[in-house]
Amino acid sequence: MSREEFDQYVLPAYTRFPITIVRAEGSYIYDDQGKQYLDFLSGWGVSNLGHRPPSVVEAIKNQAGVLIHVPNVFYTEPQGELARLLVDNSLGGGKVFFGNSGAEANEAAIKFAKLYGQGKRHTIVTAEGSFHGRTAGVMAATAQGKVKGGFDPQLQGFVHVPFNDVAALQQSVDESTVAIMLELVQGEGGINVATQEYAAAISQLCRDRDVLLIVDEVQSGMGRTGSLFAYQQYNIEPDIITTAKALASGLPIGATIAGKKIVPLVKPGMHGSTFGGGAVVAAAGVATMRAILDPKLQQNVASLSGLLADKLQQLAAKHDCITEVRQRGLMIGLQLDRPSSPIADACLERGLYVNSTQDTVIRLLPPLTITPAEAETAVSILDEVIGALS
Ligand SMILES: Cc1ncc(COP(=O)(O)O)c(C=O)c1O
Repeated sequence: MSREEFDQYVLPAYTRFPITIVRAEGSYIYDDQGKQYLDFLSGWGVSNLGHRPPSVVEAIKNQAGVLIHVPNVFYTEPQGELARLLVDNSLGGGKVFFGNSGAEANEAAIKFAKLYGQGKRHTIVTAEGSFHGRTAGVMAATAQGKVKGGFDPQLQGFVHVPFNDVAALQQSVDESTVAIMLELVQGEGGINVATQEYAAAISQLCRDRDVLLIVDEVQSGMGRTGSLFAYQQYNIEPDIITTAKALASGLPIGATIAGKKIVPLVKPGMHGSTFGGGAVVAAAGVATMRAILDPKLQQNVASLSGLLADKLQQLAAKHDCITEVRQRGLMIGLQLDRPSSPIADACLERGLYVNSTQDTVIRLLPPLTITPAEAETAVSILDEVIGALS
């Protein structure tokens, strides 16, 4: 099918490059002309193990050979095993609800928070620059005008405060507040990292005011920042964790990990999903989790993030247009003093896929499996492109 025919049938909800991708493997995607692109975005943070990781492909094939779908009125082994892996490595004593996307994981978190509020408290505080998804509820939670444009009136019950601002957060909490929901490393917002002081203040505030802490780890989770979840690098214990994207290496999944305060509140019939935690996607999730929990992968993240930190600081020293490098593990933002999309486009031309976000930020989310040589290639393409364009 030509791209013109495609556009005749598919709604133009996305801006697409005039490129048709036909194959992917490891750190690379390939177009229909055979051109290869080093994927330094991992499909918006999905392919953390690279494309088509062999152990996940095998798990999908094996599971598809015996059971693809039964509704959630039955027990299935892969769903239970995936829940066990998530809980044992995050909120001990917690339990998981499975949906199909990051937005759904956050929708479930919002519903659970309302249950906790018992109809008396319902307001949820979120941070400016956040991104929690595109469905009606989480669009309202997302504190970015460009996401909400055209879709008023928004669902009520969300209050937005500046990110990393303790005083603003404290002032925003009142007797109607039931939860604070935030990304500790804002992804779509341009890689903004919560300070330790901010996280500590949130944790204290939540304890003092009996407010739930929901951490959105849809993008920052699954080993991306150097620990399974970003919150594990802060001295805090969330009440709810949401995750998705990389959890099943590219099959659609969302998981809401509910802590001890939530578990007793959720009863049969209160929430549900036809496909959530299906056998094939859950088997892919189990294989993905096992690979991400492998200490060798975690060592790779540590050493490659160190290597990239050094190289990107050198790049920033060389090119004045890079005003800041923000990084947590392999979640990296280059703040520019100019529009970032011409640079992202020129990188793509030269075979490097990176993303432009918030108009002036280049976002890098390479697979956690990249090699030092691939990291060097990416930095040298960026160097070349920025040099040529500035
Ligand atoms: C932090 C965060 N939360 C939620 C979402 C929404 O996830 P999905 O697109 O799977 O609905 C995203 C997607 O980019 C995200 O980055």
